[in-house]
Amino acid sequence: MESFFAPCPRGLEAILAQELAALGATEVKATDGGAHFAGPFELCYRANLESRIASRVLWRVAAAFYRNEDDIYQATLALPWSRWFDVGSTIRVNVAALRCPLKSLDFVTLRIKDAVCDVFRGQCGERPSVNTEQPDIRIHAFLTADQLTLYFDTSGEPLFKRGYRRAAGEAPLRENLAAGILRIAGWTPGEPLLDPMCGSGTFLIEAALIALDIAPGARRSFGFEKLKQFDRKTWGGLKAAAQARERPRTALPIYGSDLYGEELKTARANLDAAGLQDVIMLKQANVLEMPAPAASGVIVTNPPYGVRLGETGELAEFYPKLGDALKQKFSGWRAYILSSDMALPRLIRLAASKRTPLFNGALECRLYEFKLVAGSMRRKKPVKGEG
Ligand SMILES: C[S@@+](CC[C@H](N)C(=O)[O-])C[C@H]1O[C@@H](n2cnc3c(N)ncnc32)[C@H](O)[C@@H]1O
Repeated sequence: MESFFAPCPRGLEAILAQELAALGATEVKATDGGAHFAGPFELCYRANLESRIASRVLWRVAAAFYRNEDDIYQATLALPWSRWFDVGSTIRVNVAALRCPLKSLDFVTLRIKDAVCDVFRGQCGERPSVNTEQPDIRIHAFLTADQLTLYFDTSGEPLFKRGYRRAAGEAPLRENLAAGILRIAGWTPGEPLLDPMCGSGTFLIEAALIALDIAPGARRSFGFEKLKQFDRKTWGGLKAAAQARERPRTALPIYGSDLYGEELKTARANLDAAGLQDVIMLKQANVLEMPAPAASGVIVTNPPYGVRLGETGELAEFYPKLGDALKQKFSGWRAYILSSDMALPRLIRLAASKRTPLFNGALECRLYEFKLVAGSMRRKKPVKGEG
């Protein structure tokens, strides 16, 4: 039995835990920023291939108490690094810390790297070289006030890089955050889905991958392929099974639009790269003027943020109009709007039936749920406490 930790966007920990359990993980425990879990080593193949929510899958190889940098060096030196990877592999060490009393994390990084290299030098007279850009092997260290945990990153490139993004619009959403939002929205394939401010198309593509049962990692490589114990046959079998499960790419009721042709160009490039050009319908439209593409369905979108796009003044004019458009043209729909603007429900003048705190990178956001029922939603006055 091996121990793993999967980090994820903050706010999605409980959903990640459910997803990992469904993939066969045991001892799943959600914590701030991710979930711990256990299983055979091969479980990391499956979690990397299938998880839509995890940012990485880290395999824990050691845990030790420490007081100073030398304790960290000694704990790292005691590990059988050459059993795990070849001296010809390039490495990179990452250190993250929470309440760590040591002065310099850069120095800790250096000591861990030194210890790994010293193990190899002692055993074969050579040491692996460092490559911070595209290393074969990524070693992660996590420090609390007195405990060091060492991990191999079995993902390599983070898992939100599915391998289809060719172009990013102005403020693209991470793919795993988009997938998590679709889960929170309770959207199920078959139900019409619309992102009327789709930018580079992240929600649309994630929804199509879910609907077509396409594993998010089916078309990329992973860090575990560089580890000595990598079992090509087991991995090949898992990948083949995932590909056999994929549904034919036929048109789905997934609709995307954006005001700007440039944004749609990036969305189209991404759709093409994902092989989804015939699955999703894209068109240029102003969300304030477009008709609903179906009698009912789910809107999932992140409008321009004051912090990242546009001017706060312009947004203050845009939001009430957005509220009007939703109310007038989308009754029967549920809308999920991700925004860092805590005043959004007041500004669009609709009552949110649910608000879920989420982080888009470092940016604290809320996912607001609005049930658009004809006649009953409109607020006369802003309600206190929503600003
Ligand atoms: C925060 S971005 C969305 C990013 C997108 N989720 C992605 O992953 O790339 C907001 C988008 O809203 C679009 N937009 C702004 N005003 C609009 C309007 N009136 N109608 C439709 N789209 C609009 C912008 O062009 C931009 O692409």
